[in-house]
Amino acid sequence: MTFKKELANNNFSDVIFNRHSVRLFDPQVKIYRDELQEMIAQATTAPSACNLQSWHFVVIDTPEAKEKFKKAVLKFNYPQVNTASAIIFVVGDTQSHTVYREVWQKVYDDHKITKEKLDQIFGTFLPMYENATPEFLQLDATIDGSIVAMQLLLLARAHGYDANAFSGVDFKAIISTLRLDPKRYIPIMGVAIGKAAEKPLETTRYDSKTQVDFL
Ligand SMILES: Cc1cc2nc3c(=O)[nH]c(=O)nc-3n(C[C@H](O)[C@H](O)[C@H](O)COP(=O)(O)O)c2cc1C
Repeated sequence: MTFKKELANNNFSDVIFNRHSVRLFDPQVKIYRDELQEMIAQATTAPSACNLQSWHFVVIDTPEAKEKFKKAVLKFNYPQVNTASAIIFVVGDTQSHTVYREVWQKVYDDHKITKEKLDQIFGTFLPMYENATPEFLQLDATIDGSIVAMQLLLLARAHGYDANAFSGVDFKAIISTLRLDPKRYIPIMGVAIGKAAEKPLETTRYDSKTQVDFL
């Protein structure tokens, strides 16, 4: 999919360092679905293991959808759900490898890799995923889904909005509430997006030196 590369806020330092979780939005602000699709397309430039792109998105942007969605959301997250222009719920796809051949075949057809490289990918990574345990596939999808969710948080700011990532949901119920197959998809997090209607908390961080070792 193609998308615009110009951004409303192209100041990376502002986008990343002035990002704070906003949990109360102006409920009058509407973000059109074209723009939400654009943000998602931009976010999916994220890297993923073997380029499997083990993610999927469910958009909640109407009062009716919010009411259904809230059945599987923990109450303390109602303020951002109630007031956000949209919530993009990111889920992980544990079956993404079933289209693996197509993804890499296209890369080869577009003359971006050699036939040897294609054969190497099909001979190594494909069997690894086909024989993987459910735990491996879930972990892989969790990592990919988290990375794309982070991109979404930043893209929301680059589009001039603010956001809150939230995983405070009923993990057992959320996938079927989103009308997806619980055997295939796993919850990652919701990203509530809108125009801020509160001054967010400026949280602090531990001194990273206390969290770093050099091997
Ligand atoms: C995986 C994840 C889950 C989170 N879940 C919630 C949540 O359920 N409710 C909420 O209000 N904030 C949630 N947050 C936001 C964090 O509380 C917030 O990122 C953290 O306090 C740091 O603040 P900052 O985002 O303003 O830097 C979550 C963040 C992440 C990354």
